[in-house]
Amino acid sequence: MTDTYSTSELEAAGVEAGRLTTRILELRDAYYERDTTLVSDEEYDLMLRRLQALERLFPELQSQDSPTQTVGGRAQASLFDPVTHVERMLSLDNVFSIDEFEAWAAKVERDSGRHVDYLCELKIDGLAINLRYENGRLVSAATRGDGVVGEDVTENIAFVPGIPRRLDGDGHPPIVEVRGEVFFAVEDFEKLNADQVEAGEKVFANARNAASGSLRQKAERKTAAQLAIMRKRLGKLRMLVHGIGAWHNPPVAAQSEIYELLAGWGLPVSSHFRVMTTAKAAAEFIEYFGEHRASVEHEIDGIVVKVDELALHEELGATSRAPRWAIAYKYPPEQVNTKLLDIVVSVGRTGRVTPFAVMQPVRVAGSVVRQATLHNQDVVKAKGVLIGDTVVLRKAGDVIPEVLGPVVELRDGSEREFVMPQFCPACGSELAPAKEGDVDLRCPNARACPAQVQGRVEHVGSRGALDIEGLGEVAAAALTQPLHPVEAPLVTEAGLFALRMEDIFPIRVIVRDPETGLPKETEDGEIKAVAPFSRKRKKTGKDADPPFDPTLSGPDSAEFAGDEEYVPSAAAEELLRNLETAKTSPLWRILVALSIRHVGPVAARALANYFGSLDAIRAASRDELAAVDGVGGIIADALIDWFAVDWHREIIDSWTDAGVQFATPGHPGPGAAAAAGGVLDGVTVVATGSLEGFTREGALEAIIAAGGKAASSVSKKTDFVAAGPGAGSKLAKAEELGLRIIDAAQFARLVSEGPSALDS
Ligand code: IVH
Repeated sequence: MTDTYSTSELEAAGVEAGRLTTRILELRDAYYERDTTLVSDEEYDLMLRRLQALERLFPELQSQDSPTQTVGGRAQASLFDPVTHVERMLSLDNVFSIDEFEAWAAKVERDSGRHVDYLCELKIDGLAINLRYENGRLVSAATRGDGVVGEDVTENIAFVPGIPRRLDGDGHPPIVEVRGEVFFAVEDFEKLNADQVEAGEKVFANARNAASGSLRQKAERKTAAQLAIMRKRLGKLRMLVHGIGAWHNPPVAAQSEIYELLAGWGLPVSSHFRVMTTAKAAAEFIEYFGEHRASVEHEIDGIVVKVDELALHEELGATSRAPRWAIAYKYPPEQVNTKLLDIVVSVGRTGRVTPFAVMQPVRVAGSVVRQATLHNQDVVKAKGVLIGDTVVLRKAGDVIPEVLGPVVELRDGSEREFVMPQFCPACGSELAPAKEGDVDLRCPNARACPAQVQGRVEHVGSRGALDIEGLGEVAAAALTQPLHPVEAPLVTEAGLFALRMEDIFPIRVIVRDPETGLPKETEDGEIKAVAPFSRKRKKTGKDADPPFDPTLSGPDSAEFAGDEEYVPSAAAEELLRNLETAKTSPLWRILVALSIRHVGPVAARALANYFGSLDAIRAASRDELAAVDGVGGIIADALIDWFAVDWHREIIDSWTDAGVQFATPGHPGPGAAAAAGGVLDGVTVVATGSLEGFTREGALEAIIAAGGKAASSVSKKTDFVAAGPGAGSKLAKAEELGLRIIDAAQFARLVSEGPSALDS
């Protein structure tokens, strides 16, 4: 049936295959030779698969040097000497779904005719390297190149830790090629980029490019200082090995045993591999790491599943490109390209001015991203992005999206540089660093900059502070930056608890995109506005009262003048009711609501428990404040600075006048022991990573509410470490110290029933 196509179909397929070939080779060239990623991995894989499909339908289109038959980059015109691999370095075929994986496994099992064990391992997103050992001595290290000839990087490999120049043990074969990946661990890559920013150098778009760029550097023509930097960076690279070449009769029967052999020789083997006895179990391994990608210390772009039995490798063989006994399961990309539409700045609660990227929305790692912070102007500069660029965007799991850098090759000259504004976009004050040497610019108008006041008002209503239903972003904007009437009911948060219905219900406010912070437009291009605290009602009588003072009416007065009247909405009533209730919130919540630097729920609880009233806190000396468990010098200084500002004291006075309660009723006064007797009395717990069922703050609160101590770092004094996905160095330290480590479910039992609940 395959030869029933017409000549014109063949012709059309030929044209398409030609176009795809040119494009794929271009992309490979950029990726392997210039460490540049022009399209996402997903797009690249799609093109390659389309070409494969065309070649399967029309076998005459397939030539020996088709990208479907070849691997990697090319080795010509390199700065490095060529090294011909003893055995060719193959690539891997890919699958993108569990169905495809199972189809591959079913074929393997059919072709094998016997039981198959699957060796599952992580697909490291690094740079493939071939180490050639002769009689146990390292003689060369080379990149993969085109699979036949690679580049000689022996000199630089010597600086990469963990790669033995001489293998441990004895009985080494006369020649063996050890293959693996060289990469930066995520932590080291982030540190490397942070150093680049600090040094005013360009940042690397991703860890793989950084690894490739670092390893493929020439020492010649470098100054002593540059050489030192280069070697320091090489010293941060790591290698993990995952296979051998050129040794055809190893004394073992399985790939997993090869790893034991290699480890015995002192070579770095990943600790994450597992042998599974069924394809179903292998699929579970794939799914597990799909959800826990962030728990691995290095980038992974998928899972490699290999047939474990070596005899089967021989029997199943390989195509010219990839072995039939292994497959790569590729995870959805965490990195994509998109257009940088604009860079705008936002002013936060603390006055910090933050530029952020507004992008063409794209799906990455399972969610749509439109916006990412760019931190400050130095970061914008270091990333080298221009407005209008195609940029590389990364979002790992549920981690915050990040713009990594521009795809310089795709510029067309229309891009423009971002200029940090000199004046606050919200209040017009001249921006300046808070202190000399600071990179961040701030709006100095802390008291009355509407953007800062909006931020603080929103903070009052937030979960960690007074948790006021109805006082979120829109309400805070309406109260501080209304469209009409022109006067904002709140110039600072001092007036918040004295708001009256007549102050709020005529307000209209510009609707902003929650993602970008930019005003939204209606379909006719006008700026969208809403009246969050009022609703329209048909006027009943001709002379019904106007809903508000008509002299206040601005350009929108016409809307209010017809035969309709505006009445307070349920939202307005709810807000005022909830503000009223919030006045008697626990003291710690009121402390948090004041937006004092560093005073979050944990410090606020410590202060409230110890002092019992705001007056007592205000009267305390720096030393007294700093001595309170959970407070310390930094917070003590922040408190003293805060109380020294006149308009801060005005807030306290106005809130007090409005009935806000700044004391815990019945508290016996400073120093009295906080109520003891919780199930975690005397128990220190560290929570790290994401614990299912708890927010970060919620976990800390749960510990404190149970009478325990929520510590932020792990030490010998820690009784329990509750660790969830994403736990990093704290978990490692806990393991090192042999501490009791518990999961989210055990944590929930611990805080409700106490330590004894975990013994049963
Ligand atoms: S085995 C003949 N195992 O992925 C089989 N490769 O996309 C050779 N890679 O060329 C590869 N982690 O550079 C294997 N655990 C792993 C891997 C891995 C990353 C790289 C390798 C390969 C490429 C294919």
